[in-house]
Amino acid sequence: MDKERKLIIAGNWKMNKTVAESLDLANGLVRELKDVTEVDIAVCPPFTALSAVSEAILDSNIRLGAQNMSEHGYGAHTGETAAGMLKEFSTRYVILGHSERRQYQRESDELVAAKAKAAHETGLKPIVCVGEQLEDRESDRTEEVVGSQIRGSLAGLTAGQMEGTVVAYEPVWAIGTGKTATSAQAQEVHAFIRNLLGDIFDEDTAKRVRIQYGGSVKPDNARELMSQPDVDGALVGGASLDVRNFSEIILNSI
Ligand code: 13P
Repeated sequence: MDKERKLIIAGNWKMNKTVAESLDLANGLVRELKDVTEVDIAVCPPFTALSAVSEAILDSNIRLGAQNMSEHGYGAHTGETAAGMLKEFSTRYVILGHSERRQYQRESDELVAAKAKAAHETGLKPIVCVGEQLEDRESDRTEEVVGSQIRGSLAGLTAGQMEGTVVAYEPVWAIGTGKTATSAQAQEVHAFIRNLLGDIFDEDTAKRVRIQYGGSVKPDNARELMSQPDVDGALVGGASLDVRNFSEIILNSI
């Protein structure tokens, strides 16, 4: 597929997989995907498996991501993980502001923006998630909601930092439901986000930012979604837990 930006496809394993299961999955992906150069590939295991997975993918084309981090540096924050700790495992990406964290851990745009800033300052690339709820879409408020998340969650980044940030558009109603946004629905919101990034930062920066789609991405819908001009990759949940499904999503997207 001829794309303006290199696709980035990441697996968000969420709160799944023991260390042994993570190793099986990582080793399987290394084997299946070893020849892929057209797509940037990342896996985001739970914290407990970062070390093991980091070693398993060490000499491969698969990069490591974490699912969250603290906005603080090292110090008295019981139960939290500093960006510097993630760097120890050669972590490249960190998912921030996933809708599950916004909903269950009450993460605000302001907190996500502080985390994104801290990630960049430590040399991690944030994958910042935004997305509307079903009732927002049904009441025609998708752009209002996503627009305000974009403005709030990326506030304070420099244009250079924005360029190194991945945005993940994940409509909440499509997550884990088997209900994918149509490729036209995804493209519409992605184009809206890119336009807005042009307003907030500048056109050149907006053109370089990669915007992933997430929400029930599967081997059979990946190609159609990825073929949209402003869809630059995928953030995959359920289907990333299986070697065959995740590999097929990537191979079908090339
Ligand atoms: P599913 O692919 O399971 O719908 O999850 C999407 C997601 O939340 C990825 O971050």
